Amino acid sequence: MVTSLFVEVEAAGALRPGEPFVVLEVGSGLGQFAENFLAALDRHCGAAGRQLRARLIYCLSDRNPETVRTATARPELARHLVEGRLLQALFDLRRPGDLRRVDGTELSLTPSVVIANYVCCVSPPAVLRRRGAAFFEQYTSIAVEVADGDTRTGAEIVDGYLGDPVASKLISEMQVESAWREVELAGRFSSGPHVGAVVRAVAGLDPATLLYPQEFIDFLLGISSSLMKPGGLAMVSDYGSSDRHDLQGEHEGRLQLYGNSVSHHVNFSLLDAVASEAGWVTLRSRNPFRSVHSASIRFAATVGNRFRSAFHSAFVRGESGEDLIDFRDVARTFHERKEYRTAARFYRRCLKIDREDPQLLYALGEVCLEGGYLDAAYRTLRRGQRIAPLDYEFDFLLGRTCRGRNRFTEAIQWYEMSLARTEHHVTLANLGELHGFQGNHAKARDCLARAVALVPSYERAVKLLAEIPPEG
Ligand SMILES: C[S@@+](CC[C@H](N)C(=O)[O-])C[C@H]1O[C@@H](n2cnc3c(N)ncnc32)[C@H](O)[C@@H]1O
Repeated sequence: MVTSLFVEVEAAGALRPGEPFVVLEVGSGLGQFAENFLAALDRHCGAAGRQLRARLIYCLSDRNPETVRTATARPELARHLVEGRLLQALFDLRRPGDLRRVDGTELSLTPSVVIANYVCCVSPPAVLRRRGAAFFEQYTSIAVEVADGDTRTGAEIVDGYLGDPVASKLISEMQVESAWREVELAGRFSSGPHVGAVVRAVAGLDPATLLYPQEFIDFLLGISSSLMKPGGLAMVSDYGSSDRHDLQGEHEGRLQLYGNSVSHHVNFSLLDAVASEAGWVTLRSRNPFRSVHSASIRFAATVGNRFRSAFHSAFVRGESGEDLIDFRDVARTFHERKEYRTAARFYRRCLKIDREDPQLLYALGEVCLEGGYLDAAYRTLRRGQRIAPLDYEFDFLLGRTCRGRNRFTEAIQWYEMSLARTEHHVTLANLGELHGFQGNHAKARDCLARAVALVPSYERAVKLLAEIPPEG
């Protein structure tokens, strides 16, 4: 998709000589998408990908500087950062003209592409219902119990919660109530395409209920008018549905609680309604069985066939993203049921789709180890360890694998490497046992005593320690 836009922009002479092709990712979270995007450009997009890579600035942004710093510390992304292809940025959907560096200073760039994955679902929607000619909006109130002796008012406690979004039990400690009130759409949405879009979205559906992602739509309007290149592309993926008939009926707005935040399904047909009002083109996935949908919105009145066909192959015919989610779920289920051979088959299917994912390699290595496929476990864990040496406990599992293959000296090396990172009682006990096998009683005693000191109730270590022959 992005390379096809790049080719189009180049052919139209829309980039000045030396001007970068800017991709802005908003709400990037921990940077997995950016990492995959940049890797795909290197490996799977042919000559156009390599040309784009040479002109690319990928701006990884979130509203919180810490999130951006953490994401760009991933080894792969850190490399792109050093090479100047990746920029850290601050961007809040609610201020679409305002792109900043992580130190807060202004960043003057004009993106051709904006990517927003799983961001619409966390941006606040207006919960609306149509009944005949009337529209209603759901209003929600929040309240808290003020404990005896607490000198704060309820409003101050709620402000405290809202000001500290990482506090635990943020939502579960509040009482949330909602009520429907009739609204006049023209007064409710004073400007923009919202009134037309809502009316269009529910045309012929009565009654109908919709979560209208007003903040997200305002963000699209804002970037199209004040940030992006004319004719630019916004790529949106999110959980939800594609069929406008899902809006039919009177149901409560389906908000879901994820830890401390609330998210909602996105009905992608709303993007058609907005695009018709705003004069944009929206291409989107329509398969009703998908859990994740994607839309490509071009801020232009028409798009070429090349672009349409790129969308079709990536998001209509291509189902690898969904396959990955489904295969991983199945693999986890079989792993839990201790059916390791079947779990391994499904993890291998995942790895055909995402070959370099260290988490998948770790999971496959673990099921191979548990299932007794020790050669496959060793190869898989070594591969994962080369990709992400610090992210998972590859060394610990390699220690167990080598122990299973009676390669005690190598197993000891892996356990020592694991201990250099984390002093864990199980690793210490495993290492102590191996030193014992090799007749190295002093080292065995030391490891097992450290394991018992860490977790005195760890019976295996207590027993192994007692079995070591006395000194001298
Ligand atoms: C569900 S996560 C998605 C992360 C990532 N895009 C992904 O695909 O995994 C939502 C992200 O949106 C960010 N976010 C929420 N509200 C935002 C706002 N108003 N402006 C910018 N980012 C926001 C959050 O900080 C979080 O990183």
